[in-house]
Amino acid sequence: MYTSVHTHIVLVYSNRNRNETVFYNELIELAEKFKNRFIVEFLISSDFDLSKARLNKELLPELVKQYAVGNAADNLFYTCGPYSYMRMVVLALEEMGIAADSIRKENFNTELKPIIKAIPPDIASHKVVLRSQEKEYKFISQYPDTILQAARKNGINLPYSCETGRCGSCAVRCTNGKVWMSNNEVLTDADIANGNILTCVGYPIQGDIIILL
Ligand code: FES
Repeated sequence: MYTSVHTHIVLVYSNRNRNETVFYNELIELAEKFKNRFIVEFLISSDFDLSKARLNKELLPELVKQYAVGNAADNLFYTCGPYSYMRMVVLALEEMGIAADSIRKENFNTELKPIIKAIPPDIASHKVVLRSQEKEYKFISQYPDTILQAARKNGINLPYSCETGRCGSCAVRCTNGKVWMSNNEVLTDADIANGNILTCVGYPIQGDIIILL
């Protein structure tokens, strides 16, 4: 059991109405009891105040700004809910500059279909230059290894979670060259137009690539 007395917790809890909100009264009691350490923000979709009825990509950064302790990037974020809800949360947090390994998800969706791994249109080997603020790495990536797997084989540990193109934890930006993805259930067309790619399902095609962490 986690027993730190210094941890601050903010629960953003989305429900259809108060009557159906599991542990509604108990959570209010806990928030009363631990005033300085536990805050619960109920978002009720049947409420008249539409600004706080549903969590979305506008409201989430506002809540983070309001409740984050110190620098938002130093906080940990946990999300659980339907697939599209968690995807929105992860993307919104990543757009705020929160590192993928500071975002934890609880996946309970059992309806996901298995992914059939497709073959990229170019399976030749290509050089990958990977730049972070501190370092630059170079390695070769070639099918059947994804960029993530090729990096790992070269001792470079990139962030990831699902390894199936479904969570967005491995998203990075490709600034030069082309990356083909065998599956993508996270990035929007606008994300892709901005060069975002998923390394866990990504393969360099038609030449060498440069990606930024
Ligand atoms: S690790 Fe989940 S999308 Fe790549």
